[in-house]
Amino acid sequence: MAQYVSIAIDGPSGVGKSTIARLLADKLKYTYIDTGAMFRSLAVFYIDNGADAEDKETVTELTSKVRLGIEYIDGVQHMFVNGKDVTDRLRTETVSRTASVTSQYPEVRSMLLDMQRAIAKQQNVIMDGRDIGTVVLPDATLKVFLTASAKVRAERRFRQLSETGKLEGATFESILKDLEERDYRDSHRETAPLKAAEDAMVIDTSDMSIEEVENAIMKELP
Ligand code: DC
Repeated sequence: MAQYVSIAIDGPSGVGKSTIARLLADKLKYTYIDTGAMFRSLAVFYIDNGADAEDKETVTELTSKVRLGIEYIDGVQHMFVNGKDVTDRLRTETVSRTASVTSQYPEVRSMLLDMQRAIAKQQNVIMDGRDIGTVVLPDATLKVFLTASAKVRAERRFRQLSETGKLEGATFESILKDLEERDYRDSHRETAPLKAAEDAMVIDTSDMSIEEVENAIMKELP
């Protein structure tokens, strides 16, 4: 029997996993682990070392040279690459693309897998990602798989970027295309592809508010 409670939240890009996971973690006083940020931190390291994301050999070799750290500062997850805080660099398009490509390599995934499991052994966690319920925490207390059509996710992201003045030339069409490409890569890779665990609670959030999703999950908690 696991000593601590773990809630796995999986789903495609832009479905609202981190928003929901953060709210739940706040309410339940659990630690929120954003595993996408781990893949993104490694991506920063590959980029800084001039590696081409498609070059599996170089990426794999670099992976053995990186020391990844995770720390909570004022309740916010900070990521460290060889001792340097890279948290502010994780949300660019280049990093998103590099993380999406390099996350398919088994060596990259296995390094993070060990770290993710070790964290969940030490505390109550809400962990979000693509393979948490299927691979990382197969014995999670509760598994949730969030879905929404690519169109709905692209609309949400477009609205959010417009409202915050961060569109930077992106259009609804370019956002939709990017999401569809990432969906394809995430769900077609050989190692730990994006898919719902058989025992996951699947929630289509297309027509739901954040509160409704949160309440649906809270009802399932033991
Ligand atoms: O959730 P995110 O967009 O921050 O994730 C960045 C990339 O990392 C995404 O393209 C897929 C990958 N990822 C993964 O393969 N497995 C996870 N558990 C989390 C993220």
